[in-house]
Amino acid sequence: MPQTIFQLFAEHRTIRHFLRKPLPENDVDRILTAAQRAPTDASAQMYSIIRVTDTALRDEIATLSGEQQHIRDCGEFFVICLDVHRLDKLLKRRGTRLGMGPRVSILYGTTDAILAAANLALAAEAIGYGTCFIGGVQNRIDRLSQLLALPRGVLPIVGLCVGVSDPDWIPAQPRPRLPKAFVVHENGYRLFRNDDLEAAYTAMAPISRRKDWFPTLERYFAPDGTMARREAVMAAAWRQQGFEPEG
Ligand SMILES: Cc1cc2nc3c(=O)[nH]c(=O)nc-3n(C[C@H](O)[C@H](O)[C@H](O)COP(=O)(O)O)c2cc1C
Repeated sequence: MPQTIFQLFAEHRTIRHFLRKPLPENDVDRILTAAQRAPTDASAQMYSIIRVTDTALRDEIATLSGEQQHIRDCGEFFVICLDVHRLDKLLKRRGTRLGMGPRVSILYGTTDAILAAANLALAAEAIGYGTCFIGGVQNRIDRLSQLLALPRGVLPIVGLCVGVSDPDWIPAQPRPRLPKAFVVHENGYRLFRNDDLEAAYTAMAPISRRKDWFPTLERYFAPDGTMARREAVMAAAWRQQGFEPEG
């Protein structure tokens, strides 16, 4: 098991195959406590974590998220949501209301939710579990919000599988990252030249079996890709959950 937080970072790899083993309740409590220790804007804790223990519900979420079998197999599955519903309730209780518009709510709620989610995943890895974030929950967040009975002011941000990694499927090597100079800029943004872009493709080539990063980027981010197809669903879900920008 990794010894330090730096070893944890170095050894991190997303796990997509889990043994069907439950987590001891004590471990679930420990990782949820770690999630709650994340910093939070203005102390507001603008997130909620839905622990999905119902197998039929898990099955449906796996299907909605693009048939991701690891959602069914992992010991624990969480949906981390931004939540300004509770904040609104607290303010109303003392005679006022939430004055934050949808853009500010989405930005700070997402920030709080992601910081808690990162702590949750890292704490799970520190105990020795495998983790996999599930952005696929966005595929049908309109439907997912209904399935989870989310009130207005609550919106799913990301799913997280936590479980015992199937030893036959643990990636031999951590997946690559861009060289630091591509993501860290000094005193201002450094624009990229064509040779930088080629160097980025070379650095990330090991991410795929075909040794080419481009098909992955194209599949997700080009017109008609996974992300573009989410736009209309997200617009409907944001409206449904009370996050419609006014202009
Ligand atoms: C916000 C977010 C959403 C993700 N969504 C999915 C997903 O839906 N399914 C999946 O198998 N992996 C998902 N991942 C995992 C990434 O694919 C993975 O982190 C990336 O390929 C880098 O690999 P590594 O985590 O092993 O370093 C997601 C990761 C993040 C941070």
